[in-house]
Amino acid sequence: MSEAYSRDLERWIPRLIAVWRQARRKGDGPETRLTPQEVKEVGAGVKQLSLGLTRERQLAGAKYMDDPRLLGAYLLFYWPVSYAQARQALGELPNRPRQVLDLGSGPGPLAFAALDAGAKEVTAADRSKPALALARSLATEAGEALATREWDPTRKAPLPEGAYDLITMGHVLNELYGTGDGAIAPRAALLEQVLAQVKKGGSLLVLEPALRETSRALLKVRDVLVGKGYAVRAPCLFRGNCPALVKESDWCHAERPWPMPRVVEELARAAGLHKESLKMSYLMLAPAGEAWPEPPPGRLFRIVSESLEGKGRQRYIGCGPEGRLGLALQEKHRTEKNERFFKLQRGDVLSVTETEPKGDGLALDDRTEVRVVAPAGRGVPPPPSPSKESP
Ligand SMILES: C[S@@+](CC[C@H](N)C(=O)[O-])C[C@H]1O[C@@H](n2cnc3c(N)ncnc32)[C@H](O)[C@@H]1O
Repeated sequence: MSEAYSRDLERWIPRLIAVWRQARRKGDGPETRLTPQEVKEVGAGVKQLSLGLTRERQLAGAKYMDDPRLLGAYLLFYWPVSYAQARQALGELPNRPRQVLDLGSGPGPLAFAALDAGAKEVTAADRSKPALALARSLATEAGEALATREWDPTRKAPLPEGAYDLITMGHVLNELYGTGDGAIAPRAALLEQVLAQVKKGGSLLVLEPALRETSRALLKVRDVLVGKGYAVRAPCLFRGNCPALVKESDWCHAERPWPMPRVVEELARAAGLHKESLKMSYLMLAPAGEAWPEPPPGRLFRIVSESLEGKGRQRYIGCGPEGRLGLALQEKHRTEKNERFFKLQRGDVLSVTETEPKGDGLALDDRTEVRVVAPAGRGVPPPPSPSKESP
């Protein structure tokens, strides 16, 4: 796997294992992997976390990080997942952040992802003291300077002071202010408060689980903020209300291949889970007063579905400045200029020419030119600057 962060992630594994063993004060084992007994023990915690945070969701908002067994399971399984998700999403930032605040940090996967991506000063904030202590141990182990702060927005604890190039919130928003539509307004208000501490040109990155319920809730929060004039840096190209909210069954998430570490693979197997690909919903917002990024010329769509091939044609759902539409191309219309369409990935941004309206979308044909303007995980480039006229 050639992900740019693959080596960084691999370097974290012995540190995670060492800090976990130190914290539980028991057991020695190989540096880079867990013993079979450890896999069994941690796998049970991973299973409990997975059920509680994704399927039944009774742990969402509960103080599971204060339970050493569950915190340990989080560290060895979800930490690498969140780290990799963050490294993927940080690839779409328009510039490298220097000062970063990671809210709802837990043991800090997003904070360390930001440091590894070049940030200089990072503060991790959470309500869980044990999770913050673990983040500090990891920082010591890795020789990184990481500040930590206690923070709980539901208890009106103020945000850490200062202005930041990047504020991250990894899988925490869905745990705040309860469930259902009643949570949307306070979550949007919190993000607005957070955005007020993002410097001009900076970003707020919100990562959420790729579940229908949590993803749709994020899209609703997005709509509140977009309605107030905030611009989305990624992944949205559509500037109106999110078209994925029209049908109850739709939501929006990214799915990427990733360099899954062996410890995650072993724990996934022990817990009966699949983590072959990284799935997440995410939103990168600009602070107040900033315009939406200007896209390059052309008719653009981001692929927001998996490949929907069938009966001699390739199809995807695309979402672009003109909305969420089906895009289809029949095999018999394959040409050199459009064959890229047959190999697109969720998240790729493409430009198309010469389409015809058909059904709920657009039909491409042998006149169509298909170009990938930004592969999944890369920012959409700005339009080329107008060439200077010669005197
Ligand atoms: C699923 S974990 C995410 C940890 C890390 N950001 C990540 O992406 O892997 C959710 C985190 O949110 C924190 N959290 C939940 N409710 C909170 C609250 N009311 N105030 C502060 N942090 C909270 C939990 O303590 C936990 O560390």
